[in-house]
Amino acid sequence: MEAYVTIIFQGVVMERLKAEQIPTVGLDFMNHDHAEATQQINMLDQLIQQSLAGDTDSQKKIEPLLINMYEHSEAHFAREEAEMVRVNFPAYGCHSDEHRRVLAELTQVLQQWQQSSDLQQLANYLDKTLCSWLINHISTMDSVTAMFIGRIDQSAA
Ligand SMILES: [Fe+2]
Ligand SMILES: [Fe+2]
Repeated sequence: MEAYVTIIFQGVVMERLKAEQIPTVGLDFMNHDHAEATQQINMLDQLIQQSLAGDTDSQKKIEPLLINMYEHSEAHFAREEAEMVRVNFPAYGCHSDEHRRVLAELTQVLQQWQQSSDLQQLANYLDKTLCSWLINHISTMDSVTAMFIGRIDQSAA
């Protein structure tokens, strides 16, 4: 992925999601992946804003970024699910079902973008669905999962 570039506008750093909005959980690999997802969301927001301002180069970068976001999510979910299986996490089905649902949603968003290149529709998805989903998912399912894994590993140590 390209290095993350913050937007400087009239001296103010414009980030759609700030690091402090993302809850920290008890496992480093999850926090690392969540930070990368946050950077991808901020980059997508930046590309959408620049595209809305007429920058065609930015618009061309949206499709590869959406593909990267899907691939990163798929790999991240697989890492979480492997840990849940390792410790026999009781709510594995519930958590992994939510991962499947979001991967299907990201696939649909990519296909819609490929068909229509509708910037406003993509901006609405990012603003109204994806950002709040990430924060909610981390603060609920991921936090509980990380806590459970931490306890199992502590008791086995
Ligand atoms: Fe996660
Ligand atoms: Fe998760």
